[in-house]
Amino acid sequence: ARLVVLVSGSGTNLQALLDACADSTYGARVAAVGADRGDIEGLARAERAGVPTFVARVPDYTSRDHWDRALTDKVAAFEPDLVVLAGFMKLVGSAFLERFGGRTVNTHPALSPSFPGMHGPRDALEYGVKVTGATLFVVDSGVDTGAIVAQTAVPVEDDDTVESLHERIKAAERTMLVDTVGRMAREGFKVEGRRVRLGG
Ligand code: GRF
Repeated sequence: ARLVVLVSGSGTNLQALLDACADSTYGARVAAVGADRGDIEGLARAERAGVPTFVARVPDYTSRDHWDRALTDKVAAFEPDLVVLAGFMKLVGSAFLERFGGRTVNTHPALSPSFPGMHGPRDALEYGVKVTGATLFVVDSGVDTGAIVAQTAVPVEDDDTVESLHERIKAAERTMLVDTVGRMAREGFKVEGRRVRLGG
């Protein structure tokens, strides 16, 4: 399967995918990496791996819709079977979803439906939950609302800070992402309403 991975930041999830794809039995390869900003470690990781990159910055377009269409075209040029949002901090729009809906996954650092949005680790810590985690889901038009493909649980420790908790989540998140994307690539998957089934 051909993957296009979209990133906005450090790209440690991307790196885990790049490392997994180095093994030909994994069943997927990263065809390209895109970002909504330049000069980020995620793009540098792709370049070091010899993977083509592209950037679509919102302020370079006259409207959010134009940006969404441009992003869609840039992704489409690499003909992905699956699009992976790995720390991509923008909501994709309707053009993107028309083209890639049902085959775009995102990872969220909380156990959905708890704590959607930009601050999953902080919100879980402030709420006082003792278990949080990460969720891989099929992207829809909501914020972290899509059908759940996989989840992994992580304990909250008494002395956690937002940073220490997010680091623990990210370690589990990377393993979940690599394992699940590999299975999606090798075995296929079906989205039936809110339920996602791995395997043909
Ligand atoms: C991940 O925890 C992702 O779920 C969140 O931002 C983090 C991205 O990390 N939205 P990285 O860029 O993959 O290192």
